[in-house]
Parts: sequence; C-alpha cells; structure tokens
Amino acid sequence: MAVSNSSKKLLFSLFCFLSIVGFKLKPTASSATCRSNLRAILPPPYSDLSSLTCALIWQQKFSFRFFQDRENVTTIVLSGKHDHKWIGIGFSRNGRMVGSSAVVAWVERDGVSGLRQYHLEGKNMSRVIPNKGDLRFTTASPVVVVHGDLLYIGFQLQFPTSLAYQPILLAIGSANPLPNGLLPKHINSTTTYIEFSAHQKTQPMEPNDLRRYHGMTAIIGWGVVTPAGLLVARYFRHMEPSWYYIHSSVQFVGFFVGIISISIGRNLYQRIGAVFLAHKFIGYTVFFLAGLEVCQFVGRPPSDSKRRQYWNFAHYWVGRIAMVMGVMNIFVGFHGIAANDWTLRIGFGISFATLLIAVIVLEALRRRENDLQESIVDQPPVFQVIDKR
Ligand code: HEM
Ligand SMILES: *[C@@H]1O[C@H](CO)[C@@H](O)[C@H](O)[C@H]1NC(C)=O
Ligand SMILES: *[C@@H]1O[C@H](CO)[C@@H](O)[C@H](O)[C@H]1NC(C)=O
Ligand SMILES: *[C@@H]1O[C@H](CO)[C@@H](O)[C@H](O)[C@H]1NC(C)=O
Repeated sequence: MAVSNSSKKLLFSLFCFLSIVGFKLKPTASSATCRSNLRAILPPPYSDLSSLTCALIWQQKFSFRFFQDRENVTTIVLSGKHDHKWIGIGFSRNGRMVGSSAVVAWVERDGVSGLRQYHLEGKNMSRVIPNKGDLRFTTASPVVVVHGDLLYIGFQLQFPTSLAYQPILLAIGSANPLPNGLLPKHINSTTTYIEFSAHQKTQPMEPNDLRRYHGMTAIIGWGVVTPAGLLVARYFRHMEPSWYYIHSSVQFVGFFVGIISISIGRNLYQRIGAVFLAHKFIGYTVFFLAGLEVCQFVGRPPSDSKRRQYWNFAHYWVGRIAMVMGVMNIFVGFHGIAANDWTLRIGFGISFATLLIAVIVLEALRRRENDLQESIVDQPPVFQVIDKR
C-alpha cells in the first residue's frame, strides 16, 4: 500500500463529502410547474408520473408529463395556470386541428370539473363534436384537479400504435362548454411536437423489482460485506498491517452498496407510499452509524496517541451496533413485505447462517489461542492505560 497518509485522508474526506451531498441531492426540474409533486395532488396512475419526463411547453406556461408503456398505453398529465375556462389537448396526425381528436377539460364556477373528448371535424363550433373521436380511454378514469392556481388534467389513452414524434395541439378557451356540449372557440392555440418514443426506455422500475433490488443490495451491503469486514477487524488482527487495509476497503464497498440499497428504499417508499416506520427509522440509523464509521477513518489518531484507545473503543462499538441493527433491519424488511421472494429469503438465510457459524468458529479459535498465549506470557490488557508521567 503505497498510498500516503494524507492522500488517504483526502480520499476519505472526499468520499464522505460526496456521499452526504449525493444523498441530499434530488434531480431538480427546470421550472416551477415541473417540480410539483404529483403524488400529493393526483391519484394513481397519474401520481406515478412525478419521476417521469416533464416538458415545459407553449411558452413554458404548461407542463406536460407523459409515460408510454409497451402496450401503447399513454398516461398524460398536463398542468397550467388555472385562469382559463377550458384547456384542450389534441392528438393530430399532421399537426393541424381538422381531423384530429382532443381531450378538453374545464372547471365550472361552482368548482365542478369536467372532461370530454371532442372530434374536431371543422373549424366551426358546430363541427366540433362532443363525445366523439378516435381517442380510446382506458379503465383509468381521467382526473381534473385544481391545486393552488394550477389546473391538473390527467388521463390515460390506449393507442393502436405507439406514439413517436407526435404533434400535440393545445388550446385554451374563455368560456365553458354549453349545456348541449358544444364548445366555445379557443382564445389561443398552438401545435407542439412531443417525442414520445425517446423516453420509453426510462420506464420506472416496477415496485416489485425495486423491492427485489432493495432487498438484494441491503443483504449484500448490510448483511454480508460489512459484517465480513468486521470479522476481518476482529479476528485477523495478526495480519498486521494488511488487516487494516482489507477491513477499511471492505467496509467501504459494503457501505457503498448499503447506500445504494437505502436510496432504492427511499424510492420504493415514495412509489408505494409505504408506512413502514420502524424499518425506515432503523435503516437511516444504520446509514448514519455506518457513515460515522467510514468517516472516522479521517479522524483516526495515530496508534501511539492517547486518544487512540477511546477512538478504538467508539469505533468497535458503533460498528457492532450498526452491524446488528443492519442485519436486524433485514429481518424487519422481510417481515413487512406482502410478496414473498423466496430466493432472497433463502439467500439471506444462507448468508446469515454462514455469518453466525463464522463468528462462532472464529471466536472459539481466538479464545483457544488466547488461552494458549496467556499460559506462555502474561498478556497486557486490551485497553491498557499508559501513564507517561
Ligand atoms: C439497513 C438498511 C436496510 C435494510 C437492511 C433493508 C432490508 C430490507 C429487506 C431485506 C427488505 C425485503 C426485500 C424484499 O421485499 O424482497 C426490505 C423491504 C423494504 N424496505 Fe428496506 N432495508 C433497509 C433500509 C431501508 C430504507 C432506508 C428504506 C426507505 C427509506 C427502506 C424501504 C423499504 C421498503 C418500502 C420495503 C418494502 C416494504 C413493503 O413491501 O411494504 N429500507 N428492506
Ligand atoms: C358555422 O356554421 C354555421 C352553420 O353551419 C354558420 O351559420 C356559421 O356562420 C358558421 N360560423 C363560422 C364562424 O364560420
Ligand atoms: C403498439 O404499437 C406497435 C406499432 O407502433 C404495434 O406493432 C403493436 O402491436 C402495438 N401493441 C399493442 C398492444 O397495441
Ligand atoms: C396567446 O397568444 C398570444 C399571441 O400569440 C401570446 O402573446 C400569448 O402569450 C398567448 N397566451 C398563452 C396563454 O399562451
């Protein structure tokens, strides 16, 4: 190990800094209307669009979120300032109004909202036919929600083919539809192009996949790698000085995998709206303690320093507590899930049993060795108080 002490410290500080910053950072959208959290505003399936592509369209006055799945089902949430009587979104073949079909949403003076399809057969009010058109709604009911000064329109459509670079018509009107359904003309309208296919790959992971990856990384990080690193520190101390490098790099990797698990867990909590407080609390505590451990490398006093024994003591115990809580939280996690993933359970069972056996065997070996040594030489106490006066 030719790494100098100061560059090692620098590296660890950088890592600690980056992991703290990285944990706090969330992807930020470019505008206020794209930043709103749909989960608090709309019911599923529209609430799941929060993390998806959001484009600001029509002079940045509207935000357009969408998700197209593999079955050509497109979920759309459009939001804009609620100062118009109606907002329409049309799907056009050629970018023009005539011949296309549109979804129009409005809010009555008494707050009652409505949404209807119109077939745009001509540019005269009488040629805009209510409840007609090519658009096929799915079983998910459309929603129209006023939240603050924004109007949110969510709906889901089944298209016969997948949408690619699609002309989208937008229009706003100044009066609500008439009782017979006819729509007063818009006061403003535009055509914009949305690339629907480019984002198909950014499909969010299914909650079940998230669960599996979360559990997998948690088991590897907190259940296998970090405990293994602790075993190295406790039972392979005679391999001076390589034990320390092995220990710290193994903990490093374990902590990294653990961070991945926690960030997937956070995502999962948001996606499924989980109320699983104990698990979350223990998870963050483990993260905090383990972070403390990793970052302690920075402040490790030299081995001849008087403070070193306190440091060692704190380091051992924080580490042990973090490990026990981490393993415990895996059990808690398994307890909280509805769907049984047996491969994960079995995998964890095997690794837990291995860990347990390793601890028992290594501890027994160590005791025996210590007994042997004690009979030869009088061992100094583990935490000896050096009085230099
Ligand atoms: C030491 C840290 C953690 C460990 C060891 C851990 C472990 C686990 C395990 C093994 C599962 C079951 C996996 C499966 O379903 O196959 C699970 C489920 C879960 N974990 Fe964690 N986890 C930790 C931290 C977190 C954190 C920080 C969060 C969120 C902030 C979180 C959120 C969840 C959620 C939402 C589930 C699914 C529960 C449900 O289905 O309702 N976990 N966890
Ligand atoms: C719309 O059509 C009706 C009858 O078809 C006609 O009387 C009216 O003038 C037309 N309006 C416009 C704006 O073209
Ligand atoms: C989706 O669209 C593609 C063409 O864009 C088509 O080949 C496929 O059959 C469609 N799938 C469904 C389920 O409609
Ligand atoms: C309506 O059109 C005018 C003129 O093109 C434009 O200045 C205005 O910003 C538009 N309003 C909206 C809400 O887009």
